[in-house]
Amino acid sequence: LARGAAAPDLAGRHVVVSAGGTREPLDPVRFLGNRSSGKQGYALARTAAARGARVTLVSANAELPDPAGVDLVRVGTAVQLREAVLKAAADADAVVMAAAVADFRPAVYAAGKIKKQDGQEPEPVALVRNPDVLAEISADRARPGQVIVGFAAETDDVLANGRKKLARKGCDLLVVNEVGERRTFGSEENEAVVLAADGGETPVPHGPKEALADTVWDLVAARLG
Ligand code: CTP
Ligand code: CA
Repeated sequence: LARGAAAPDLAGRHVVVSAGGTREPLDPVRFLGNRSSGKQGYALARTAAARGARVTLVSANAELPDPAGVDLVRVGTAVQLREAVLKAAADADAVVMAAAVADFRPAVYAAGKIKKQDGQEPEPVALVRNPDVLAEISADRARPGQVIVGFAAETDDVLANGRKKLARKGCDLLVVNEVGERRTFGSEENEAVVLAADGGETPVPHGPKEALADTVWDLVAARLG
């Protein structure tokens, strides 16, 4: 199927994509982070724009070139990402949560740099839960018929864990990746299965992140009708 300018099947739609990985600060110079590069989210934003959508890209710490023709909102932490996604989702037809959102953040932020003390063991780092953005926007949809997509990286029992996660989050589609030492993080390619709340299961063969992105938008467009 020809795509891009020839098939603007997302014309007139507003879609929101989150990308990258949140950073949760301990002090002014240190943070808890993760290995998400943002490439899959940026590929989703580019392909949606190519298919005619108005795109809001909520980018958490991705070090990638700004995609052309996309509204870019930069965030750092999970709490900031939640604010930006909720705001953009208010009038969105679809929301795709490709960002790796930290599950926990340090309970205390030290306004000054944490210093080591001679002869003293370090204090353990206390953590608190971050808000679950995907579960929240799925439970409390900003618009009827809004299509919500999550991503999950799993190392074991990928499909079974994916089904459980889809049900727990309450989203419409869940893109499940198998990850390991050399898979997915930072790479140009991806391999996944897209699970649908209606029981559908769409395997996406190993290939460029754009191909997975186009499959996601195919499934979203079909649900938007
Ligand atoms: N997610 C989110 N807010 C969080 C954590 C995750 O919105 N605080 C979203 C991610 O953007 C992703 C999906 O939820 O789309 C699944 O993330 P994942 O980490 O796999 O799910 P968790 O429920 O955090 O499960 P786990 O304990 O396996 O990390
Ligand atoms: Ca998680």
